[in-house]
Amino acid sequence: MSETLSFFLNGEKVQLNGDPLRRLLDVLREDFGLTGAKEGCGEGECGACAVLLDRRLVNSCLLPAVAAEGRRIVTIEGFRETARFRVLSKCFADSGAVQCGFCTPGMLLAAEALLNSNPSPTEEEIRVGLSGNLCRCTGYTAIITAVAAAAKEGAGLWPSSIAP
Ligand code: FES
Ligand code: FES
Repeated sequence: MSETLSFFLNGEKVQLNGDPLRRLLDVLREDFGLTGAKEGCGEGECGACAVLLDRRLVNSCLLPAVAAEGRRIVTIEGFRETARFRVLSKCFADSGAVQCGFCTPGMLLAAEALLNSNPSPTEEEIRVGLSGNLCRCTGYTAIITAVAAAAKEGAGLWPSSIAP
């Protein structure tokens, strides 16, 4: 089966020809060279493959490419260009929330999705907001501290009607 899909990828309108049932994760990595979304579990359990679909956090290993049709996909490469990324990444660095970095793109996008829907989350709400993303080395305390700090330092940046 072959089809032409079109969607917005990091703000650019793109087209994709081929099997619409290929995993979105593979399409992003292989067809568009966006390797920030990683294959971890491949089963929707770890969040390493997370991207934003119309500003909501999704696991791209679980979605067929056709799910992107007409939608807005933002990967960590696109999010990196935003002021919100700069605040979040600084807070992750300052809090010691990055070690090997494997989970970090997904964590940052999970934090973005959380803060966009809830700009002043409690610690428990941060815990719940990041609960689909696993980190094997940092421990979650530093990551939660980083997101709480970003919510304070970036007050006014979230929420925003402007898609990153
Ligand atoms: S690789 Fe997609 S959730 Fe783990
Ligand atoms: S920093 Fe290594 S998995 Fe999170």
